[in-house]
Amino acid sequence: MKILVTGGLGFIGSHTVVELQNKGFEVIIIDDLSNSSIEVLDGIAAITGINTAFENIDLRDKQKVQDFFKKHQNISGVIHFAASKAVGESVENPLLYYENNIHTLVYLLQELQEQPKANFIFSSSCTVYGQAEEMPINEGASIQIAMSPYGNTKQIGEEIIIDTAKVTNINAILLRYFNPIGAHSSIEIGELPLGVPQNLVPFITQTGFGLRKELSVFGDDYPTLDGTAVRDYIHVVDLAKAHVIALQRLLNKENLDKVETFNLGTGTGSSVLEVIQAFEKVSGQKLPYKIVGRREGDITSAYANTDKANNVLGWKAESTLDEAMESAWKWEQKIRS
Ligand code: UD1
Repeated sequence: MKILVTGGLGFIGSHTVVELQNKGFEVIIIDDLSNSSIEVLDGIAAITGINTAFENIDLRDKQKVQDFFKKHQNISGVIHFAASKAVGESVENPLLYYENNIHTLVYLLQELQEQPKANFIFSSSCTVYGQAEEMPINEGASIQIAMSPYGNTKQIGEEIIIDTAKVTNINAILLRYFNPIGAHSSIEIGELPLGVPQNLVPFITQTGFGLRKELSVFGDDYPTLDGTAVRDYIHVVDLAKAHVIALQRLLNKENLDKVETFNLGTGTGSSVLEVIQAFEKVSGQKLPYKIVGRREGDITSAYANTDKANNVLGWKAESTLDEAMESAWKWEQKIRS
């Protein structure tokens, strides 16, 4: 079965391509290389032995999206990762985010609704919950007003899919990721942030490697156990596997609703200081850091209630924070060597 993976050269996308190929799916990747590298194809091939079909298409080009689906008429499912994801950039350039994340989604759905097998997996985010009132967060928690245009594109994206599925043959699963980290155990693929990383783990590994002087810990006055903010860090390979299971659910017509939503996290919250400790443990070195003020827009705590994913999808995150951190550290060392 042929599966289209948009953004398949990105961090989560590339790991998902590998897991799809491990399960015998034929994959075709669309990526515009705006935040990824063509060499990721070699990394995927080194793991699975497959030279994945790839088309360099900017999904904002509606004509090209139409042409793609005319050329490939036997696609059984689409996993849609292609999107911009930098929160700060989205605040500075909201229209870029609405164009990149919303126009592209609309064009894809317009083509997908014409397909006999209209199965769609969407990359959503726990950012839709904002600061939830109760921890852990379950899928029924209310959606909060988005704190950034990026976050808003995830909320609007979910709504577009729900509205469209009601009146078309499209079936969809919305996957709300918590904080993906780590790299494939082969160390052939991993995260490749452009410029100064905004996310915690790549900033830590770059600091550990000596590329950055020290980590700034954003706030130690949160109402948490050690005062630093708490997140649910999930190994990217666990996350990738969940996509394959969700896709199989749609292909086997096991979904109970036209659109289903699942949290993808470990269910365990870790503070920034705990993440630093995990890094120090697996790397055997001290991490230079200083405490600074809170980062604007950050919430205190977010970790997943994973009951629905566990019981309905039959999926559970397996890797520990230490294992994920160890893979992230090995990856950092590899790409700098
Ligand atoms: C961030 C985005 C979120 C997005 C997610 C995607 C913000 C405010 N939120 O989530 O919308 O879905 O990335 O990956 O950007 N930290 C430090 N020092 C650093 C970097 C981070 O202390 O240099 C802390 C943060 O304050 C936070 C934690 O580490 O408490 C995790 O930060 P990060 O990796 O950026 O993820 P989120 O903020 O959870």
